Amino acid sequence: MWKVMKIQYQLWLIYSCVFICVTLVVYMVVSRTYEHRLQVGYEQVSITQGTTILNQFKETYPYSPNRSIGYLRTYSEQINSRLIMLDEEKKVYVDSFNQLVPNTILHLTILKKETVPGSIFSNTEAFGYVQYTLLPFQTGESKGYLLMVQDANELFAEVTSFQRWMIQTLLIAVFSFFMISYIVSTWFSKPIRQIITQLKKITPQKRVFSVKHQRQDEVKALIDAIKNMVEELNLYDDRQRRFLSTSSHELKTPLTTMQLIVENLPYVREQEALYGEFVQDLAFQVKKMQRLVDQLLRINSIWDDKCNKELINIHDIQEHLLDSFQYIALGNEIELKFDLEPLEFYVDRELFYRALENLVSNAIRYSPKGRQVKITSKREKGWNKISICDHGIGIGTEDLPHIFELFFRSNDATEWNQDGTGLGLTIVKQIVDLHNGRIEVYSLKNQGTCINLFFN
Ligand SMILES: Nc1ncnc2c1ncn2[C@@H]1O[C@H](COP(=O)(O)OP(=O)(O)OP(=O)(O)O)[C@@H](O)[C@H]1O
Ligand SMILES: [Mg+2]
Repeated sequence: MWKVMKIQYQLWLIYSCVFICVTLVVYMVVSRTYEHRLQVGYEQVSITQGTTILNQFKETYPYSPNRSIGYLRTYSEQINSRLIMLDEEKKVYVDSFNQLVPNTILHLTILKKETVPGSIFSNTEAFGYVQYTLLPFQTGESKGYLLMVQDANELFAEVTSFQRWMIQTLLIAVFSFFMISYIVSTWFSKPIRQIITQLKKITPQKRVFSVKHQRQDEVKALIDAIKNMVEELNLYDDRQRRFLSTSSHELKTPLTTMQLIVENLPYVREQEALYGEFVQDLAFQVKKMQRLVDQLLRINSIWDDKCNKELINIHDIQEHLLDSFQYIALGNEIELKFDLEPLEFYVDRELFYRALENLVSNAIRYSPKGRQVKITSKREKGWNKISICDHGIGIGTEDLPHIFELFFRSNDATEWNQDGTGLGLTIVKQIVDLHNGRIEVYSLKNQGTCINLFFN
């Protein structure tokens, strides 16, 4: 029941229960204190009256019960109370109502009271609210007590009327609090209802989330987190859609060329040279498509990849690059030079090598023969920095902002080297982002390019 209840009602219920408990405690404490203060006042009055009476007829005790009863009756009428004198053992000596015979033992709680003089109030069936007051006295060797029995219905009426007034006031307070706490809990839970309404409106086709609010607390953090999530989902979706449309377009180009070649092959079968050229073109396009598909698969897998970091040192890196590129560099008459400061850091080895391979391969491919490609490593401002620099064709300033885009190839690069998909640097950027690293590119057209990678 509680679990399925709306937060608004949960809060309302909690506030109300707490308030009712507080109200009950306040009621009990205040009414009890009020009653106690009234009783203390009544007790003081009775003790004063009793002391005055005792001063008058103390001498008559225990020798003259008849005179005592005379006094008692007079005072009893004056103060409208029943007065009973008790002997040392608290047995009746004389009773102003003349009903109790001497030596009667009374069974009253007041007689067991330790601290006298003092009063006890009790609600009797016969007389209603009654006050019993007991005062000790002494004449010569003889000790005794004066027991006063007084009507306290006035006190009871005063307490009852005060309690009634309090109950009415507290009921009004509880009702007002119910209303206020309903309004507060409705206001408090409003953003949650808005968030739910907005979330329900989100569909795979339409992902918009906006909630107007002035809150600066956790609700704001929640709304911001959902906004970010929706924006990221949109970005991801956008990227996937763009990736799909660009890739299919890029795949279509070699396919169309291949289709044309295949269609024309039967017509050139007799011309041996042309036939050979056609077959070579076909093989080139197939290879290009293979590379393209391979790169596309890689890009897609990196988006879903987890980074399995392990410690790598600069000698591992040098060894791997030499294994992969020394013969290719030799074939292109490029000198591979290393200037390495010892470094050790954590990366996903396979992904990191793939990023470096793409960069070194670019540096070799976009450099004229006889040039040098330099790989350096150093620690810089808390980062592990790896640089790959070449003296190749460089990148024009207009092309620089686009080099990490999917399928981007500069005209200079296409002219220089037809072989290329324009995906290499996209992969590099993805890998660096996955490691929370960063990339810097410095390039001047016809002078060369320097790409710096920074890892933690
Ligand atoms: N070292 C470099 N020198 C000059 N231009 C470069 C260099 N590295 C990258 N570029 C430019 O950036 C573009 C994108 O590079 P990227 O590596 O993504 O693609 P690619 O080399 O053309 O093809 P591939 O996907 O086969 O690597 C290149 O086409 C080229 O214009
Ligand atoms: Mg490349």
